[in-house]
Amino acid sequence: MKNNIPLSTIRSFKANQEVRAYLLLKEKHLRLTRDGKPYLDVILTDRSGTIIGKIWEHAGEIEPMIETGAPVGVRAIVEEYRGNRQLNIKRIVPVNEEDFSSKGFSWELVLPQSEKNSEKLWRFIEKSIDKLNNPHLIALLKLLIIDNRSKIVKHPASLRLHHATMGGFLEHMVYMLNLGIHAAKQYKLDQELVITGILLHDIGKLDELSGYPNNLYTDEGNFLGHVVMGYNMVDKAITAIPEFPSDLALKLKHILLSHQGEYENQSPKKPVFPEALLIHYLDELDARMDMMKTAINQELDDGDWTSVKNYFRVPLFKSQKDMNELPEKYNETNTEKKS
Ligand SMILES: [Fe+2]
Ligand SMILES: [Fe+2]
Repeated sequence: MKNNIPLSTIRSFKANQEVRAYLLLKEKHLRLTRDGKPYLDVILTDRSGTIIGKIWEHAGEIEPMIETGAPVGVRAIVEEYRGNRQLNIKRIVPVNEEDFSSKGFSWELVLPQSEKNSEKLWRFIEKSIDKLNNPHLIALLKLLIIDNRSKIVKHPASLRLHHATMGGFLEHMVYMLNLGIHAAKQYKLDQELVITGILLHDIGKLDELSGYPNNLYTDEGNFLGHVVMGYNMVDKAITAIPEFPSDLALKLKHILLSHQGEYENQSPKKPVFPEALLIHYLDELDARMDMMKTAINQELDDGDWTSVKNYFRVPLFKSQKDMNELPEKYNETNTEKKS
């Protein structure tokens, strides 16, 4: 790649500018123009956002050289098309760490990453588990959460919808946990069940999504989905724990099966007790808040309002403040032992 243009990131791309960047190839589709000429339609991401690109020349030869889920080096002109920015790609090359780290490439540039400190978030999870009294729940969380630490801290919470970042899964759990601990007290609910239910509600996603760099649905994910996969993981772990109380097992399994709330959201059950209802709404709330933050942050245009092309289908007001700032003392949240 030509080096005379400085490297930049998607968020800083301006219309009519020539740019050079390391990006992750999310999708590639070889299509035909109306005149029957092949061109490549690509979706590219980096840690700052997502952008569509077109490759008009030599598309047929380039297509097999670039791999979905792998990083690429791109030189392109930023164009405006129907109110959105897209790249007219002049050059695209496959990139590997060995050859390109001396040319400014690093994985941190291309993978969307949670802005939160994963060590701190993990400590919050450990602290919450430490406060539990029920030995069966502690044993269950050891098997499914503590023993999966290395995977959990890097995993995304979804493909695209919410917390689709490295560490997004962990962030989603901690944000729900922080709210859930307070809400459990306020509504006088079983705090231990709420903590355990939140930590396990999406556990199936560890196997439903492949994780980065490509972050795609696995075959099992496509066939079964995280609700069923999570249920199976919890069921298997409970069986391995001697004398796990059957009523507690049923409640936990119900939380997994009902957390998506509605049948049309692939939830086989609707919540039937308060802890399950709370977890459903916290899940919904945290996902929506992240989606709104992302929709606002990813908007490249200037001005006070975003376009309507977002999940909420209305122009969103671009507030200056980062609405998803973690509470200062989140790692000291009250997770008092129940007497
Ligand atoms: Fe879920
Ligand atoms: Fe969730």
